[in-house]
Amino acid sequence: MADDPPPDDPKKALDDFLATMRRRRTVRQFSDRPVPRELIERIIATAGTAPSGANKQPWRFVAVQDPAIKREIRLAAEEEERLFYGGRAGKTWKQDLGPMGTDEHKPFLEIAPWLIVVFKVLKDDEPDRLSDQVYYVNESVGIAVGLLLAAARVAGLATLTHTPTPMKFLGSILDRPAHERPFVLIPVGYPAEDCTVPAISRKRLDRIMTLDRGSPLRPPGSDVPLPNLNSED
Ligand SMILES: Cc1cc2nc3c(=O)[nH]c(=O)nc-3n(C[C@H](O)[C@H](O)[C@H](O)COP(=O)(O)O)c2cc1C
Repeated sequence: MADDPPPDDPKKALDDFLATMRRRRTVRQFSDRPVPRELIERIIATAGTAPSGANKQPWRFVAVQDPAIKREIRLAAEEEERLFYGGRAGKTWKQDLGPMGTDEHKPFLEIAPWLIVVFKVLKDDEPDRLSDQVYYVNESVGIAVGLLLAAARVAGLATLTHTPTPMKFLGSILDRPAHERPFVLIPVGYPAEDCTVPAISRKRLDRIMTLDRGSPLRPPGSDVPLPNLNSED
C-alpha cells in the first residue's frame, strides 16, 4: 500500500466522485439497448472488492440475460408485487411509496438487458476455508451492493435496487442452493429515452452528519457551518 499514495488533490478527486454519484438515480424505465458482458463482469468484480466480516465474501451475483429467464422472473415478481400493493404493504408503507409512483407492473424486468440478482451466502462454500461460518452477512453484502451501484454509475449505466418481497422465487428460478438467499434484484442498462425519475431531495449534510457528539446535529455555538455538499449549485 506504501506505493499507493493519495491523489495530489484529494478534495478534487472527491468532488469528481461526488458529482458522479449525484447523477445516480434509481431508474424504472429502461431501454433494451444491449450492454456488453465485459461491463457487467467489471461491475461485479468491483462489488467483489468490498470488505466483509472475516473476509468471508458472503455474496453471489447471478447475471441474467436470457429473455426466457427474465420473463419467468418478471411473472413471479409481479405476482408477489400484486399481493404487496393489494394489501400486504400496509397503509403507511404504501403512503411512503406514493411519491415513487411504483405499482405491481414490472416491465423493466424483461426490458433491461441484464438483471443482476444478488444472493447472500449463509455458509462459506469455498473449499480452502478454515470454517464454513460467515459473519456480518447483511452488512457485507450491503456494502458490496453499494460498490456495484457506484461502478454501474461510473460506466454510465442505470440501476434499479429492486426488492420484490418475498424474493424466495429467485432461488428456485435461478437454481441456487439453499444456503444462498436472495438479497436484492438489480436491473442494469441504459435509461429509456423518455425515462423520468421522481423529484426527490437528498438530506443536507448537516442532517446526516454530526461533529463529535450530541444533538443538535451541529454542536451549539459552532461557528464552522457544514457546507451543503448536496446542493446542486
Ligand atoms: C434496499 C432498497 C430496496 C428498494 N426496493 C425498491 C423496489 O422494490 N422498487 C423500486 O421501485 N425501488 C426500490 N428502491 C429504490 C428506492 O425507492 C430509491 O433508492 C429511493 O427512492 C431514492 O431514489 P434514488 O435511488 O433515485 O436516489 C429500493 C432501494 C433500496 C436501497
